[in-house]
Amino acid sequence: MQQPERWAEGSAHAKTILLGEHAVVYGRPAIAFPVTSLTLVAHARSTDGGLSLDTPYHHGAVAGDDSLSSPREERLAEAALRHTLDHLGRQHHGVDVTVTGRIPAARGLGSSAAVASAIASAVARLEGVWLSYEERFELVQFVERIAHGTPSGLDAHATMAEGPIIFERGTARPLPHKGVPPLVVADTGVAGHTAAAVAGVRARRERDASGVDARLDAIAALVEGALDELRSRDYVGLGERMNACHSILSELGVSSPELDALVSAARNAGALGAKLTGGGQGGCIIALAPRATDVPELVAALSAAGATGAWPVTDKEAA
Ligand code: MEV
Repeated sequence: MQQPERWAEGSAHAKTILLGEHAVVYGRPAIAFPVTSLTLVAHARSTDGGLSLDTPYHHGAVAGDDSLSSPREERLAEAALRHTLDHLGRQHHGVDVTVTGRIPAARGLGSSAAVASAIASAVARLEGVWLSYEERFELVQFVERIAHGTPSGLDAHATMAEGPIIFERGTARPLPHKGVPPLVVADTGVAGHTAAAVAGVRARRERDASGVDARLDAIAALVEGALDELRSRDYVGLGERMNACHSILSELGVSSPELDALVSAARNAGALGAKLTGGGQGGCIIALAPRATDVPELVAALSAAGATGAWPVTDKEAA
């Protein structure tokens, strides 16, 4: 074991789901991309005692044991800090953690997973411990369970991944294709609560199992077909799949008027396809521009249509 450092950093980025949200909760595949333009950095420092946090969601001393019972963002950061120290067997250390950067919370961009991942990395480094990928994944999943109840694991993997992934039945694999399509995410400015959206789909499935399962299978078929289109850069075909997926997610009850409005604005601005991304019922859309050079115009059009934020998914052009 290395000597503990006096301070250390860890970082994580946002994620966006291209295709497969909700169906992935029921074992179907999903494709997700890192959003490298939205990142968080956690800076952990040893202190004489006590735990304190300063995050975009939380300032000051860490509260008592009830910290694990509330799903608010500041409580999730506390949970990440405490659980990492428990995992490392260092409960009694004084640690101060500052998280900087910005991933809008409750927008389907994986902010809770990213906060947990950045804090776990920074605190482990501070304590001189190397965390394996699996250990970090489990620490993030602990926080995701507080946030979302029954997370598939997709968000945790996607915020930790270096590039696009396909996730199915608990396993994430990097997508073999080089480059990222010209994608944009845009925020409705309305919070979407993944746990509530997932519970809504579950309730619908209890009423109509065959109807919901048929839709989940249709989403799985869209994901599988998209792999070929990503390989051949058939972005017209990929955009059609995104549009079809948005319709199915709407039928599952996880869209909203604000999401539908941004999806329409993206299509009217020339996007080849657009859909909600993440849990829905608020949060963000993802839209596909025809070419990388069209991304700034699509970002501007979505901002003009009322998006409270719009970001390219990557700053790198498809290679
Ligand atoms: C949330 O980002 C994605 C969902 O599929 C939930 C999950 O995978 O746990 C809605």
